[in-house]
Amino acid sequence: MNDTTDKAATFDLECRNLVRRFGDFVAVDDVSFGIPQGDFFSILGPSGCGKTTILRMMAGFLQPTSGDILIKENSVLDMPPNRRPVNMVFQQLALFPMMSVGENIAYGLQRKGLGKSDIADKVRSALDRIGLPGSGDKSIKQLSGGQQQRVAIARCLVLEPAALLLDEPLGALDLKLREHMKIELKKMQDKFGTTFIYITHDQSEALVMSDHVAVMNEGHFEQIGTPQDLYYHPDTAFVAAFVGETNRWHGRVEQINKDGIKVVTADGVPLLATSAGGEQHQAGAEVDIFVRPESVVIATDADRVSSMDNRITGDLVSILFNGANSRALIRDRQTGGELDVALPQTGEFSHLKRGQEVHLGWGMAQAKAFAALTDSGTKEVGT
Ligand SMILES: Nc1ncnc2c1ncn2[C@@H]1O[C@H](COP(=O)(O)OP(=O)(O)OP(=O)(O)O)[C@@H](O)[C@H]1O
Ligand SMILES: [Mg+2]
Repeated sequence: MNDTTDKAATFDLECRNLVRRFGDFVAVDDVSFGIPQGDFFSILGPSGCGKTTILRMMAGFLQPTSGDILIKENSVLDMPPNRRPVNMVFQQLALFPMMSVGENIAYGLQRKGLGKSDIADKVRSALDRIGLPGSGDKSIKQLSGGQQQRVAIARCLVLEPAALLLDEPLGALDLKLREHMKIELKKMQDKFGTTFIYITHDQSEALVMSDHVAVMNEGHFEQIGTPQDLYYHPDTAFVAAFVGETNRWHGRVEQINKDGIKVVTADGVPLLATSAGGEQHQAGAEVDIFVRPESVVIATDADRVSSMDNRITGDLVSILFNGANSRALIRDRQTGGELDVALPQTGEFSHLKRGQEVHLGWGMAQAKAFAALTDSGTKEVGT
């Protein structure tokens, strides 16, 4: 499936056929993955899909119903949490407010019985690596929220765990700080070289920071891959819908052509697409078609898109201006459906007027058809 599954011997951390039930409910359903040393590995999925349950099992706070967890090729199932070489960082940090920054970082090292000068060296080096050199004597209250977060993580990293388990550690921060901390966290992980297992339901966090991402849905992994794999080559409709922004249509395959398939939507609109997710869809199959906003060409002149496989005439609903990442919402005249379209970075369309007629076009290669999501699969996707 991907490059993290076929090099078993080099995994730092591995879960094999992990299952966790709560009564009849299966919260984690046969999940297997391996993480090489130094990887930034994220588990991305909607609320309630089982992310924290996996992390709690890895940390030793919860026993699996079945399956195995290995660290450096040894099963750790019989090991209590305090003896496992992993540390967990929670959404709400637990810094000691009465201690200085340096004392907070030193705390775990002292408990491990390290000598004074050794501890001082490690604390100094950690402060350098988190961009707070010389701040050891400051009180925690003198630090900003983002700085406190860095100290909380450094406090775990100095213990040199085999892996750091982070459960939505940015969840309590405001949006601007979250954006900043994404970059800071990635830098910290690079500098310490520690394996990170990072849980989030925010796809932009996962895409920006991770080497590999597992997309989780209702207890199972849909796909493990690099952020690029997931974005450009999703295996399932769920992944296509959950990772990145996309336009989506539901329809039925009417005809199989040489290069692709012809799908007709419930509104009777024909669309040309290509089969994706490793399946060749047959006539009559229900599919969901996904087209990324940046795959749609926008024009005020119909001729510009006349040679494209799929074309729509629509009216501008609004411009979502965001510098080079600006987008337009266009209402399809025929069906009333709305499309999300990326605007070229030249800014040439940023002055379009509300209600103005525009022409949209996209190729069938950019329209990926997956076996349709079941109802239960669509509820969290929010397209
Ligand atoms: N101790 C428990 N007893 C019963 N059910 C539980 C228990 N812990 C978790 N669950 C259920 O297991 C499912 C997965 O929970 P989990 O906390 O792993 O989700 P999550 O993916 O971390 O969600 P969120 O993003 O909201 O934190 C949920 O439906 C939850 O209600
Ligand atoms: Mg959780």
